[in-house]
Amino acid sequence: MTQSQSFDMIVFGGSGDLAMRKLLPALYYLHRDPDLPNGRVIAVARQNLTREAYLATVEEHLRKHIPAKDWVDDERNKFFERIDYCAMDAKQFGDYEALSGKLEGREERVRVFYLATMPELSRSICPNLDAAGLITEQSRVVLEKPIGRDLASANRINDEVGAVFDERQIYRIDHYLAKETVQNLIAMRFGNTLFEPLWRRGWISHVQITVAEQIGMSGRGNYYETSGALRDMVQNHLLQLLCVIAMEPPNSLAPDAMRDEKLKVLRALRPLSGPQALAKTVRGQYRRGVIDGEAVPGYSEEEDVSPDSRVETFVALKADLDSWRWAGVPFYLRTGKRLQQRLSEVVITFREVPHSIFDAGNAIESNRLVIRLQPDESVKLHLMAKVPGDEMRLKPVSLNLDFRESLKTHGAGAYERLLMDVIRGKLTLFMRRDEVTAAWQWIEPVLDAWKAGEDVPKPYSAGTWGPPAASALIGRDGYHWNEES
Ligand code: BG6
Repeated sequence: MTQSQSFDMIVFGGSGDLAMRKLLPALYYLHRDPDLPNGRVIAVARQNLTREAYLATVEEHLRKHIPAKDWVDDERNKFFERIDYCAMDAKQFGDYEALSGKLEGREERVRVFYLATMPELSRSICPNLDAAGLITEQSRVVLEKPIGRDLASANRINDEVGAVFDERQIYRIDHYLAKETVQNLIAMRFGNTLFEPLWRRGWISHVQITVAEQIGMSGRGNYYETSGALRDMVQNHLLQLLCVIAMEPPNSLAPDAMRDEKLKVLRALRPLSGPQALAKTVRGQYRRGVIDGEAVPGYSEEEDVSPDSRVETFVALKADLDSWRWAGVPFYLRTGKRLQQRLSEVVITFREVPHSIFDAGNAIESNRLVIRLQPDESVKLHLMAKVPGDEMRLKPVSLNLDFRESLKTHGAGAYERLLMDVIRGKLTLFMRRDEVTAAWQWIEPVLDAWKAGEDVPKPYSAGTWGPPAASALIGRDGYHWNEES
């Protein structure tokens, strides 16, 4: 292993929720991967803790997030040897001396600055890193979503980070792109010839993307009050899924080949503004209800949420793409908190048969390709087949590809892949600046239309599929949401 392959990963926000819930578990699994280059993790946070005290907190959290069968004492000890702790206030330039001391003499290594902090902090961290002379040729910076809360703030963050890091050094995370089934969608589309001729307006009637969650705020009320479902989920995760479904075949997996194609999709989204935005979107907010038999509070009763909050916890919308491939094929997107089921899936519905040769009693359902990301990872192709027997009777059947069986994955999967990609310098799964800009350009007029209108988010009971208006949105076009498990 060469010195240049080894790495130092500096995690700002090292004792925060993201570090404990996603990054450290993913690093633990990566540490067990023989392909991981030699490297260490320096957690940075404000608390004045010793390394031992920090590791004790890490252990407490990891035990919660890593199944007992994977939590091996011997591995834990070796993993902990890789972790160091640096107590500092990232806003104070003077504090960077401590970090410099830890990095001195290691300039040849890959240096990853992971900003697992509130986005505003990146405004102090990047110039401070630069002024302290810590940004080397081999440095990379990882930015978590949300990048801004509108176009102007996203531009400001991108400008400030761009002032000290080149675009090739900036890794903007959208962990949905690294989910196993999304990767499989890419494999399915471009590793087979079967679907490509059908993957267009002549054969597909509409597309649905659902990311439904059962969780509520879980202590994130403060953040969510400044965000809402459109900014938190649609601007990034759902639009990125839409890009992967709708993009033209890139000519390689090279970062810009993929990102150029995704950008074209974002730019082909028909603008939604004013009355069109109001007609084609539905906002909701959960009230008290029951999830899996347990009573849960309404959004406005959550911690750190204003009792008269107008923040949406649910969005459904209809998007159109102005392109030769997709003209006239609606894409319905929906996401929400406290919904009936945890379910993330993409449903591609094909057109109806042009003419039925079967008896009137045979209802022929349109073929559907259902790509499920969560809770299970699977792809199902729904077809019509004959019921055994003398008569010609048809029934829907499905061809299943269950990734739980064919690919053993575990919860930390997406972050594991992304961290390894950052260490190896692979930008393909990270968003380029122009993608973030294009996504905000499409989202912002919707936010403006909501703000200007009189409407407030429609109430829905926790444990349901959201406000009835969401069913009406898709129902107006003669379709319904796929809600079967
Ligand atoms: C995050 C959002 O980006 O994604 C959260 O901020 C959301 O609100 C989460 O719960 C969902 O991710 P996953 O991987 O659990 O579906």
